[in-house]
Amino acid sequence: MAPEDHPLPTLDELEVGGKRVLVRCDLNVPLKDGKIGDDLRIRASIPTLKELLDRGGRVAVCSHLGRPKGRVVENLRLAPVGLRLGELLGVEVEALDQVVGEDATRACVSDAPVVLLENLRFDPGEEANDSNFAGALAALAEAYVNDAFGSSHRAHASVVGVAELLHAAGGLLLADEVDKLERLLREPDRPFVAVLGGAKVSDKLGVIDNLLDRCDAICIGGAMAFTLLVARGKDVGRSLVEEDRVEGVRAVLERADRAGIEVLLPTDVVAADAPEEGAAHETVALRAIGDRLGVDIGPQTASRFGDVIRTARTVLWNGPMGIFEIDDYASGTRMVAEAMAEATRAGAYTVAGGGDSAAALRQLGLDDVVSHLSTGGGASLELLEGLDLPGVAALRRRA
Ligand code: 3PG
Repeated sequence: MAPEDHPLPTLDELEVGGKRVLVRCDLNVPLKDGKIGDDLRIRASIPTLKELLDRGGRVAVCSHLGRPKGRVVENLRLAPVGLRLGELLGVEVEALDQVVGEDATRACVSDAPVVLLENLRFDPGEEANDSNFAGALAALAEAYVNDAFGSSHRAHASVVGVAELLHAAGGLLLADEVDKLERLLREPDRPFVAVLGGAKVSDKLGVIDNLLDRCDAICIGGAMAFTLLVARGKDVGRSLVEEDRVEGVRAVLERADRAGIEVLLPTDVVAADAPEEGAAHETVALRAIGDRLGVDIGPQTASRFGDVIRTARTVLWNGPMGIFEIDDYASGTRMVAEAMAEATRAGAYTVAGGGDSAAALRQLGLDDVVSHLSTGGGASLELLEGLDLPGVAALRRRA
């Protein structure tokens, strides 16, 4: 069996009773002035931690937060995350102010049920997958669990290096995410519709390419749609366009046409003078955009997307249709979210991924109306692109 075909080693295969288990979580949550914006990732980490504690393990939780680039950044300390983790677990969490070192070692050999190490990326060894740093992390524990699906596309020490040094397993969240996302690539029920949005087409070209063999239609909104519209020869005014991607996009569109896959692009837009709240704006046909820029898909486009989504048996949604954080530019995203919810109620398998789609669904109170809400942004995109995630591959090598 090729290493990538090995099943993931699961939590129930791991001996944890009486042991300190190092658990890599993705607790990279939005944090402003010490306040957590969306705690989805913290809540999603709870089942694995609870199970380990119930089975008599003690845990050392570790995560990165933001991009401090190998040095201590005061407002990226994990202490506020530790407080929320403690509330959700109902257990005191000892948040340390160091990643590895004497204090961390002392805390890990103590009886404290839950220790939270400081932000992994304060140490340059984390992103470098440095073997000494991985060794120091491994020395804190007797077993390792990777539950950080959202970070599994990073070949970092806490994701890859440590997995090679300790008895290792995938946590419940990681296993669930891999299973639910891979289900989209393994014989999805048809029609299978992908709805993609967000700012950059460069992030999603690989996914579009990989889905062309599997899906029936792709609806594209958000600023990324403008690069596709330019590739189709349309005028998009001052909208955001990735000029260096137009050729690549054209090739993908030609492949879609040959394969008979419908690619739906905006035919009307909300055109604004600036991508800002309060800017002059109106809904117009795309051809009337003038020198303005598109900040949302228009109602006609949203309704075409909605019709396709509602009749699908499988739907993947990644990325908003416009600048949904501003009320005036949120209706396209809202209509897509509502159509997703209707499709789910009608029995379709619906998956939303990427931080912004999750935030949009939560803003609309629709986050429990999809079959699966992924905690992964880049990780879910790389998996759907057909790439082997380094964190998952490292675990499979241990199977
Ligand atoms: C994410 O937010 O997608 C993950 O936590 C990974 O963060 P990164 O892009 O900074 O590696």
